[in-house]
Amino acid sequence: MSTAPTLRPDPGERPAELRWIPILAGAFAVFVALAATFALLTPRPDSMSERARLFENLGGEFTLTAHTGEQVSLSDFRGQVVVIYFGFSFCPDVCPIHLTLLGAALDRLGRRADRVQPLFISVDPERDTVEVLSNYVAHFHTGLIGLTGSQAEIDQVAAQYAVAHEIIREPGLDDYLVSHTSVLFVIDEHGRVVDLLTPDVTPDQLAAQLRPFL
Ligand code: NI
Repeated sequence: MSTAPTLRPDPGERPAELRWIPILAGAFAVFVALAATFALLTPRPDSMSERARLFENLGGEFTLTAHTGEQVSLSDFRGQVVVIYFGFSFCPDVCPIHLTLLGAALDRLGRRADRVQPLFISVDPERDTVEVLSNYVAHFHTGLIGLTGSQAEIDQVAAQYAVAHEIIREPGLDDYLVSHTSVLFVIDEHGRVVDLLTPDVTPDQLAAQLRPFL
């Protein structure tokens, strides 16, 4: 009398091809770990390029007048990391707070801040003359460059960086405010926008956000 063949596999025995699965899975896990380590350790150009692609429709070259009276172009700062903030010197609170934050974050970066060029672009060129800007930027950081230009030049640069700005007049008042986008643009050494930072953080937090780009 023959025993009926059983289809149940021996629990201790796995088909040969299945025996490879844990080995392959283990090898794959090691490969993933190595790839992740490699990605962290390799220089950043590739990931910077990927970041730049996220913002490829934003930013670009411009030439404006610095608070020193010189003509300054973004491309003058190739090889440096540029941080741009748009605002206006008559801004009662937001701009001074954000520029103070930027200056404090750069101080916390120590020598690494030598690689950073902070730029303040006025969205109020009518009042932000070279003289006004030169007094203004000195309050925030020794390296800060203030930039102004004709209204058409400013409108052009603001459009390139998608910065909204609008003059707000109160009835009966001569003075006016300018509502504007408040964001820090991080530009890499090739002149590409690689990040937008919201300046609603502490100086330590902003320094930590800038450090990976340096
Ligand atoms: Ni402002």
